[in-house]
Amino acid sequence: FGKKVTYKTSVKSTQEIAHSLAREGALEGSIVLADEQTGGRGRLGRAWQSPSGTGIWMSLILRPEIPLQKAPQLTLLIAVAASRAIEKVTGLEAAIKWPNDLLIKGKKVAGILTELQAEADSIHSVIVGIGMNVNQEKKHFTEEISEIATSLAIEGGKTYKRAEIAGAVLQEIENLYRSYLVKGFAVIKLLWEARAYSLGKRITARSVTGSITGYAKGITDEGVLLLEDDNGEIHSIYSADIEFPS
Ligand code: BTN
Repeated sequence: FGKKVTYKTSVKSTQEIAHSLAREGALEGSIVLADEQTGGRGRLGRAWQSPSGTGIWMSLILRPEIPLQKAPQLTLLIAVAASRAIEKVTGLEAAIKWPNDLLIKGKKVAGILTELQAEADSIHSVIVGIGMNVNQEKKHFTEEISEIATSLAIEGGKTYKRAEIAGAVLQEIENLYRSYLVKGFAVIKLLWEARAYSLGKRITARSVTGSITGYAKGITDEGVLLLEDDNGEIHSIYSADIEFPS
């Protein structure tokens, strides 16, 4: 991975560029990197702050031959890979909040946005966007943001080489992805569960269709979150925002 790199100093969003490259037939493993994004996108239509030179703003193109309903597995795979890369380079432990936020001491350090190009029920490309706060200092965040977000530099007490971390992320993704294509999801599932932040906790899953509160019981073999409500009913959560009710 990363043999074909499109690097830009400033773009609206690396996702947009990766989407067009994928449509033009870019090879699996192609990546788009930018120093700054002026219109970075997060999950559920939110904006993603991507100031110049402080973080990793990267999109990766994958072309797995898997059925559409297995796509959530890839999101979890990427989260595990990014968490392992952080640990390898910095020694910091990043937990995964379902589906794919990485948290250090409860604050978000990275987010992943998985977008699909699909025809009928087969996947044409998966565009994986990874945003990681690396060298921001506390003063770079507004007070409101610093309540919920952090960076590797804040947590590790030093600055890191972005290229080294991006390289480690790509290496971990490639290793896990190759294993996944051969052996399937079971190994990834175990690795994900070992790093999961939300499992066993009482959570509220909020989505456009409403919200459900209960206990996070686990994930399925498809990578879907199982939530048990107070009547003992189990719900499958495909997409939602997870909150921790006080
Ligand atoms: C989230 O937690 O909501 C996901 C954030 C994903 C941000 C990354 S940065 C690189 C890529 N380009 C974007 O516009 N978004 C993703």
